[in-house]
This record gives sequence, C-alpha cells and structure tokens, in this order.
Amino acid sequence: MAAKPAHTIGIYPGSFDPITNGHLDLIARGVKVVDRLIVAVLRNESKQPLFSVEERKEMLREVVREYPNVEVDSFDGLLVDYASRRGATLILRGIRAISDYEGELQMALMNRRLRPEIETIFMMAGEAHSFISSRLVKEVIRLGGDITGLVPPPVEVRLKKRLLGAK
Ligand code: PNS
Repeated sequence: MAAKPAHTIGIYPGSFDPITNGHLDLIARGVKVVDRLIVAVLRNESKQPLFSVEERKEMLREVVREYPNVEVDSFDGLLVDYASRRGATLILRGIRAISDYEGELQMALMNRRLRPEIETIFMMAGEAHSFISSRLVKEVIRLGGDITGLVPPPVEVRLKKRLLGAK
C-alpha cells in the first residue's frame, strides 16, 4: 500500500463558467485537506462557454488571492493524466444534492479505473450554497433577477457586463 505523500497536492477541476460562491466555499474547505490545491479549468472546445478559459482563470485568480496554497491552471485531455503530470494524488469534487451523485460516481469510478493511484474526494458545500450553479446564476441574471451573494462581487460585475451590457 502506498504511503501518504509528505506534500499532498489536490486538483479541483471544473468548467467554472463562472466561479460561484459554491465553488469558492469548496475551495475554502479543500485547502484544509491538502497542502496545495490546483483549481483547474477544463479547456473544452465542444462547449459554448460564456467566458473564455483565460477570463475564467482571471476571475478565479482574483477571488482565490487570499489562499497562498491555491494555484489556478487549465487543462485538456484526461483529468487523471493532468493530475498525474502535476503530481496530484487527490481530485476534489463538490456534491450539492443527491442528483449530483450519480454522474459524479460514474466519473470517479472511471477515473479510478484509469489511474487507481488517484483518489476522488467528495465534499459538500455549506447548505447556503447548495442550490447555486453557474448555469442557474446565468439564467437568473439574464432574466433580470438578483444574484447578490451567489457569486463573488468581481464576478457579478463581469456577468452584468457580459449579459446585460452594463458599464
Ligand atoms: O464543472 P463541471 O463541468 O461539472 O466539470 C466536469 C469536469 C471538468 C470535471 C469533467 O468534465 C472532466 O474531468 N473532464 C476531463 C475529461 C476527462 O477526464 N474525462 C473522463 C472523466 S470520467
């Protein structure tokens, strides 16, 4: 059985289009269980994102500044291959409700089959964040709803600019 590495590196992967307070809550929890956390944005040509990968990374960097052990990066190809290249032994994923579980379980088991040495850890965001998703935040703002408290303030500004043309 492999011993626990002296310096644990975790990857928190996702689309982050854009980062929400739910993601941020998970990062705050994740930094307590690893020595270094890499927040990794998937470069996915097939999805039509609202923000480019570079914009998403910029927003992430802005809001994780307070954590010295968090790095923001992007990846393409298989997540487990990226994790391995970066020396990570853990993949961190958030579970909001039971509806997230099935898809997450499938991904975690596939990732384990591909690289058994990498573990997936599921964490729950605080209850106050358990209903937030990037998709819903974008829908609410598009339809004129209030998203205060659902995303970090600099992200709210960017969302309003992009979706409502606000200055
Ligand atoms: O924020 P999301 O969109 O739920 O994140 C999904 C993500 C990026 C974790 C997932 O799509 C992923 O890991 N993609 C990389 C490709 C890959 O490794 N596929 C096989 C995993 S089962």
